[in-house]
Amino acid sequence: MKHLLSIEQLTADEIQSLLAEAAQLKAGRGEANAPKPLAGQTWALIFTKSSTRTRVSFEVGIRELGGFPMFLSSNDIQLGRGEPIKDTARVLGRMVHGAIIRTFAQQDVVDFSEFSKIPTINALTDDEHPCQILADLLTIQEKLGGWEGKKVAFIGDGFSNMTISWMWAAKRLGFELVVASPVACQPPADFLAALDAPNVTITTDPVAAVAGAHVINTDVWLSMGQENQKEKENEFTGFQVNQELLRGAADGHIVLHCLPAYRGKEISEETLELHADTIFQEAENRLHAQKAILVALSK
Ligand code: CP
Ligand code: NVA
Repeated sequence: MKHLLSIEQLTADEIQSLLAEAAQLKAGRGEANAPKPLAGQTWALIFTKSSTRTRVSFEVGIRELGGFPMFLSSNDIQLGRGEPIKDTARVLGRMVHGAIIRTFAQQDVVDFSEFSKIPTINALTDDEHPCQILADLLTIQEKLGGWEGKKVAFIGDGFSNMTISWMWAAKRLGFELVVASPVACQPPADFLAALDAPNVTITTDPVAAVAGAHVINTDVWLSMGQENQKEKENEFTGFQVNQELLRGAADGHIVLHCLPAYRGKEISEETLELHADTIFQEAENRLHAQKAILVALSK
């Protein structure tokens, strides 16, 4: 593994070994002999979008692994004034040891990895949020013992970075995934043809999606960059994850939300607070999952 650009590009074995490493790092966190594979290294975080969890977990994770994080808001570097990504990549590639990028176009992350020649991590693009899905899978392992034989439901935007990454995770790992989304927000036919996953189904019916589900997952209706698309939000009537919707879920079900959450929109206040233990464990798992990615890319 040279880069972590998407779940699509990972194999089932790579996902499993990242999760095993994450669990080990989590168990050994703070021990005197904790590994320092990034000792002497500087890793740049280049962010074009806001972030709380991703930024903090990467900065803390890099330090815990012995390295030095350098946060670069795209507004503060020449990238924000139009310097091409390929030039930014060739400069940073000669100075830092790895890069973590949050931006809009997936192609920018791909181009950065090719031109910089240093390990590059996708910290969220419009197409994928691979670090989040690894943390979510770790949380499912911890809470439910794994995804084998489990039904996962995703309620909300059916073609966002989160759902795309979830669909690729289901393709790679084989669990049942039902995405409930308004027609206008469903994945297009060409994407589903390329995915070619009979274990992934798409519906407009959130009640059917949640029926018997062990994991119920949601995310914002308007992703970063879509703030002006208020009309899109109107599509989601009936798609809120709340206690009424969860009545049909399997016993012992868990609720996931990558956060930040908009209470009263994609999730009710009551449901978020009832499942806060899981949701904030999921947030903490960003740290452990990303340390595993950093360890894998430092080899
Ligand atoms: N879930 C997530 O990526 O959160 P941030 O936007 O706060 O990084
Ligand atoms: N789909 C959301 C995820 C935020 C972590 C967004 O892109 O804004």
